[in-house]
Amino acid sequence: MKYFDIGKPFNTEAVINYEHIQVSESIKPFDLKRDESIVLTYKMAKDEIIYGLGENMRGINKRGGIYESFCSDDPTHLPDRKSLYGAHNFFLIDGIKSLGIFIDFPSKVTFDMGFTHPNEMVITIHGLDARVFLIEGSKNEIVHKFLKAIGPSYLPPKWAFGYQQSRWSYETADKIKEIKDTFNEKDMPLDTIYMDIDYMDDFKNFTISEERFPNFKNFVQEMKADGIRLIPIIDAGCKIEKDYEIYEEGIENNYYCLNEKGQPFVGAVWPGKVHFPDFLNQDARRWFGDHYSKLVDLGIDGFWNDMNEPAIFYSENGLNEAIDYAINSKGKNLGIYDFFTLKDKFMAMANNDQDYKAFYHQVDGKRYNHYDLHNLYGYNMTRAAGEGFLRNYPDKRILMFSRASYIGMHRYGGIWTGDNHAWWEHLLLNIKMMPSLNMCGFKYSGADIGGFGAHSSSELLIRWSQFAMFTPLFRNHSAMGTRIQEPVSFDDETVDTLRHILKFRNALVSHIYSQFMMKNKTYEMLFKPLSFEYDDPASKNVEDQILFGDLMLMPVYEANAKGRYVYLPKDYVVWRIQSFEDYRMDLYMPGHHYIEAELNETIIGLKKDCLILLNQPENRVDDISLDRMTCIGYIENEASYQLYSDDGETFEEGQTMTVTITYDKQLEFSVENPLCKEIVYDVMTSDNRRHKGVYHV
Ligand code: GLC
Repeated sequence: MKYFDIGKPFNTEAVINYEHIQVSESIKPFDLKRDESIVLTYKMAKDEIIYGLGENMRGINKRGGIYESFCSDDPTHLPDRKSLYGAHNFFLIDGIKSLGIFIDFPSKVTFDMGFTHPNEMVITIHGLDARVFLIEGSKNEIVHKFLKAIGPSYLPPKWAFGYQQSRWSYETADKIKEIKDTFNEKDMPLDTIYMDIDYMDDFKNFTISEERFPNFKNFVQEMKADGIRLIPIIDAGCKIEKDYEIYEEGIENNYYCLNEKGQPFVGAVWPGKVHFPDFLNQDARRWFGDHYSKLVDLGIDGFWNDMNEPAIFYSENGLNEAIDYAINSKGKNLGIYDFFTLKDKFMAMANNDQDYKAFYHQVDGKRYNHYDLHNLYGYNMTRAAGEGFLRNYPDKRILMFSRASYIGMHRYGGIWTGDNHAWWEHLLLNIKMMPSLNMCGFKYSGADIGGFGAHSSSELLIRWSQFAMFTPLFRNHSAMGTRIQEPVSFDDETVDTLRHILKFRNALVSHIYSQFMMKNKTYEMLFKPLSFEYDDPASKNVEDQILFGDLMLMPVYEANAKGRYVYLPKDYVVWRIQSFEDYRMDLYMPGHHYIEAELNETIIGLKKDCLILLNQPENRVDDISLDRMTCIGYIENEASYQLYSDDGETFEEGQTMTVTITYDKQLEFSVENPLCKEIVYDVMTSDNRRHKGVYHV
């Protein structure tokens, strides 16, 4: 791995491990131009594929599109959107040789990946200073080197791999209790309930509405006694209000971003007018990070950081300008241009570049315009929290994930993919996005299951849950005004189907957790495109199946489908699951197949010589025991499986069990470093036989 400096790059702290990284003499194969901005161009060979760019629209193969790296609060993820909430400038060109590129630059970067000219890649870095990393090797080696350079992911607690229920908003303690009770009554797994902005007193960070949440500490304990953790939201903007502690402390210590005149910059978000903490300033970061303790000390074990692009609904300037324009328009006969100018004044008021250029950060005593460091803002908010947790609770893992991000933030928290919609297209987008998020370091991630905006149908929620059952963050979240979307709130048949899916996810928790922990240590992706494991030409083009370790995920993502076409590069056993107890296994030869999957069936491919161990499903992750495990597999001669397990709460190193099964007319088991007492097995062998039994360890 090498890097090439253009000008004097800002240290984003994305890359932290320079041990095997050298300075590069050139930036080949790119042509470089530097005048008003930096422009890198590259002629793409006809069949070259581009993987990566993290949280972005379009496919697993990013070729043919145009993308803009600029953390954006845009709640309509339409196909032509260039920016979402994250700025993930790492991608990989896969041709005869492969090359990984990371553009380490904290402001806007445009990636024209053959959009303007089909065979030309043009990267425009909107500034004059950047560090560009170049990584050679196979695709897996490139990603491995990159992940090692940016460091391992933060560690969420194990319970954060359970089912999580959210909505904007469960406004009162009673409502939250009701949700928990309904889940209990309907025997539905549940580990957490989210508290969206309405739990606060007037949307003020680190406050709790006494009226809606009286005796909050007791309430948190009461919920915990039933195994449910509450996860409050924290927003970037802090309300301007005299005597509000956060406002006063921030002003007194100069922790807020300042405007041109040196006064705290004023923007507006949920509470109305706010100041934005200067998370780029380490003192401000420390101050803000310590405030999370207030809630942790009340029993809170996790948070989500939001609106941290930062989202700005309006600034005083923007609002005044639009209102003046409207007043001037009053009584006039507005023609096409005047009318649309008036409309745009209001439409373009939120998240406006002019506002991002109107405030400043203090970094190590130097002043920087926000626009020039924009993509680091959410990253450093989450860093403030993550550093605070380690400082104040060094032995405790605390759940943390963020909306805005930059590469490197994964060391402090995960991400969710923001305000998607209850659209089938967004289920497919979730599938395509997981490998590219993993490439950029974000392992603890997931989308709002069922869709945040728009009304979800029971069918969409079922299909989405069948896929998301593999994403580390497994959370159903929806917006105010949309159809109620908890799995317990649908008709009986849907509730039954979702119960089986959620219980199956719970049975997978020890596997998913173990994969997460092991792949984090070895700097590997959890989710991969097929072509990272199979080098046949057809695998390169698969956009709607992905690998999760030895499992092939082939989710149904279309309405009214009773199955789907699947490409299998090798022979696979298709595991068709209705529930933990009720499933089929069928052997398929390599090639294209139509595989049936009724609405209540999840289909998963098992690679040859692979095993997977499941725990018995429980309704809470805390109740999971490894004593009795279920082993599913597909074996020709020999398969081995490793299960990592630890206490899931502290940073104490755990243990790894290895289960090996060999097959020669019958199955032989060997278990190294046992973590379980018995293994209930159901294994298929390549001679198309099923072997069932119980192995006592
Ligand atoms: C933003 C978040 C969303 C949240 C809402 C209210 O839109 O992305 O998840 O529910 O704000 O806080």
